[in-house]
Amino acid sequence: MPAELPSLLVDIKPGIIDLGWGHPSPRLHPFDEVKEASSKMFQKGDNSPLQYGATQGFGPFLESLATFLSGQDAYIPDVDPHNLFLTAGASQALDLAATLYADSGDTVMVEEPTYFVIEKIFREHSLNIVGIPTDENGIVTTELQQLLENGLQPKFLYTIPTFQNPTGSSIGETRRKHLVDLANEYDFQIFADEVYQLIGFQEYTPKPMMNFDYGEKVISFGSFSKILAPGLRTGWIHASQKVINKFSDAALTFSGGGFNHYASALIKEVIDLGYLASNVLNLKEEYLSRAVQMDKSLSKHLGGVVSYSFPKGGYYFWLKFPEKFDSDGFLELAEANGVSYRPGNAFSESGKFSRYLRLTYTLFEANEISEGIRRLSVAYQDI
Ligand SMILES: Cc1ncc(COP(=O)(O)O)c(C=O)c1O
Repeated sequence: MPAELPSLLVDIKPGIIDLGWGHPSPRLHPFDEVKEASSKMFQKGDNSPLQYGATQGFGPFLESLATFLSGQDAYIPDVDPHNLFLTAGASQALDLAATLYADSGDTVMVEEPTYFVIEKIFREHSLNIVGIPTDENGIVTTELQQLLENGLQPKFLYTIPTFQNPTGSSIGETRRKHLVDLANEYDFQIFADEVYQLIGFQEYTPKPMMNFDYGEKVISFGSFSKILAPGLRTGWIHASQKVINKFSDAALTFSGGGFNHYASALIKEVIDLGYLASNVLNLKEEYLSRAVQMDKSLSKHLGGVVSYSFPKGGYYFWLKFPEKFDSDGFLELAEANGVSYRPGNAFSESGKFSRYLRLTYTLFEANEISEGIRRLSVAYQDI
């Protein structure tokens, strides 16, 4: 008898258009391209992807990744493969980074609001979390400076500098520089979660945090989850040689060898065939058209009720409702009307975001997005 165990992380109730999950579109998975890359890998007759991998990562993969990143307008030219480290995705890498850079009881900082799982990850390390306010230009570095001047001694700051989850905002260049200055002056690391860096809709995307690094403070976390396929569970760290050595020398890395060695060998072929670059272009085009659809539907059905900024990239709309709106309480009504979302307070332990909710435009098709927003407006009229 087959066990009825789930296959996927996503768990959507029947009949519901769930705009809450920040997952990519299954229709856009590059299935044929990955299949071709896989055949190419096996045709080479090299069985080293089946062996324990080098601690920093599979060398040929790191080289292909460096070439790919150097060629992306939203990245920086001349990325050196020595400054890259193979991970099993940003989540795993952030968990390991918390192990390496903080001890239980230490203080760390996050943006408010922030990626909803990160506070749980840091809590599992028994870290004290301090929230730093954000505005439409990302983290407010003057407020951060004030806290530091008043004696806060964090081990690191976790930030999503570009197309933030959940707000979609990006930190401007002046603040990026200020952050690095503060990290050097007050001696803390910057954990820059840059998983959305390469999916910008406009010509200009702010440069990644490594562009501003000095003093070996920045650790950038990249991922193939949002630009290729999350099932591959592969990502990378981009940082100074000193930081890369720390990750390569970690006990966990040494025990099992480089993370996701096999998947990285496959991704190397995907990159070399040019399919990662073409996939990124395709995703940007598709997701922009879905975002436009969501924007149109929001204006049509909830214009005058919600306010938001149209996303310049990434996955999300961050909607602000009128005062007294309670997005936690509204969820049941929305789901009774066949639509779901992530309430604002999921993104902060402060409880300050009842008026907000996050919608994702990547998982569902354009027609489903329109229908989802229509249902949301019907539910809103019932409050
Ligand atoms: C900001 C942020 N970081 C990390 C992740 C997870 O990344 P990965 O799949 O590489 O573990 C997500 C996924 O939604 C995310 O939004």
